[in-house]
Amino acid sequence: MTRKRVGVLISGRGSNLQALIDASQGPDYPAEIAIVISNVPDAQGLARAKAAAIPTLTIDHKGFPSRDAFDAALDAALNEARVDILCNAGFMRLHTPGFVERWRDRHLNIHPSLLPAFRGLDTHARVIEAGCKISGCTVHFVRSEMDEGPIVAQAAVPVLGDDTSDSLAARVLEAEHRLYPRALALVASGAVYVRGERVLGFTDYQSQVALFSPPLG
Ligand code: GRF
Repeated sequence: MTRKRVGVLISGRGSNLQALIDASQGPDYPAEIAIVISNVPDAQGLARAKAAAIPTLTIDHKGFPSRDAFDAALDAALNEARVDILCNAGFMRLHTPGFVERWRDRHLNIHPSLLPAFRGLDTHARVIEAGCKISGCTVHFVRSEMDEGPIVAQAAVPVLGDDTSDSLAARVLEAEHRLYPRALALVASGAVYVRGERVLGFTDYQSQVALFSPPLG
């Protein structure tokens, strides 16, 4: 099995990165993490990568005159590391349309809501405020608009009556850690493909793309 080389972009804590690292250590996992790049020099996720002996790089956006220049540096580093698939994991910068185009359909993001609902920041507070009974997370291919693009997989969790945005965030985060490695495996193994704005599957991928926690009874 040739494992796809994955680049992970982070800006902070890196708990999703950790979930990807853990999964990629399995002998049958179809992807390996080739490099972790942070735009924030002291991002906690960098230490997680180092602990797993994964090469890391900091490309601080503050050192670049424009978004184009920053994305060009990012692109060069990813190419040098021979990255096949890119995963944003809590990466807090918007990409330029040119960058998005270069990585089209091999670039994933995870967002802590059931897209296309609740794009953007402060997701959990807005979900609670709206009175939603279910929330969750989505892994999708990246497009130019923030939190938009073909959906690879989603996980649903209940919203409880006494939830705060912190308690809901923690429940969704647990689901993120289960979902992201599965979604990446589907993409890396070639089990899914993009048609129009939908992701479809070649094989028995359905059981992997919709998770319910707790399972529907
Ligand atoms: C996650 O909730 C992810 O969905 C969002 O940013 C957060 C990153 O957390 N895009 P971590 O850095 O992976 O712990």
